[in-house]
Amino acid sequence: MSWDPKVYLDFEDERTRPAAELLARVPQKSPEHVIDLGCGPGNSTALLARRWPKSKLEGLDSSEAMLDQARRSAIRATWHSGDIPSWKPAKRYDVIYANAALHWLDKQDELLRRLMSYLEPKGVLAFQVPVNFNEPSHRLMREVAAEGPWAARLKNVRNMVLGTAEGYYDVLEPLTAALDIWQTTYLQVLTGDDAVYRWVSGTGLRPFLNALEGSEREAYVREYKSRLAAAYPARASAKTLFPFQRLFVVATR
Ligand SMILES: C[S@@+](CC[C@H](N)C(=O)[O-])C[C@H]1O[C@@H](n2cnc3c(N)ncnc32)[C@H](O)[C@@H]1O
Repeated sequence: MSWDPKVYLDFEDERTRPAAELLARVPQKSPEHVIDLGCGPGNSTALLARRWPKSKLEGLDSSEAMLDQARRSAIRATWHSGDIPSWKPAKRYDVIYANAALHWLDKQDELLRRLMSYLEPKGVLAFQVPVNFNEPSHRLMREVAAEGPWAARLKNVRNMVLGTAEGYYDVLEPLTAALDIWQTTYLQVLTGDDAVYRWVSGTGLRPFLNALEGSEREAYVREYKSRLAAAYPARASAKTLFPFQRLFVVATR
């Protein structure tokens, strides 16, 4: 799947706030080895660099466009091109951090067990995943995909994985000395036209957009935008409210 760092960072503050709130619950004072999995353009890695200026910090991502942006930043980290599920580190980490990345991956139970095994004793796996895939923003992109002339082409567009607090608890509890899980809804107040569309076109909508081209893509976008406008009507101030649920996990080995 291709990513566009510029579109993604259109909402940098809103996208980085949960990264900071996840990091705030990681207890490590001065970890030696820290990695940001699915580091994207480096917005989450920058927080880790600020919190732990002496750590050996790495960022890993499968998107060259995102990594290019990260490498152009002044963030003090070593950047790796790689795929999280097949990542096999040669050393153990004090902190493995993944903000808004693991929801793209299947077989999460297996993956989480593996990531825990890559930690030093008392090391921490901290991750945050969006859990709003049944909200109109994401439901409507699937509905429009299933109803139009593009239905056959979009049939196999992969869905993101919807994690649950209980599911993560059951997998991680036997492997952890401490486990902190919480879920929250951010009432995001967005400005400008088609605000929810602009938000999802930086993330969840990308697999659908990537599978279409030309006039068909335009027609899909038109229909999706019109359904979004009905689901998320502009307020009197012309702002759009976009409630967004996120699930956080901090697991200490
Ligand atoms: C929503 S962005 C998150 C960026 C950043 N961590 C943040 O907090 O805003 C998700 C990132 O995960 C990366 N990603 C998705 N699947 C991946 C995989 N299998 N392996 C490595 N990176 C992956 C994408 O390329 C993208 O940069």
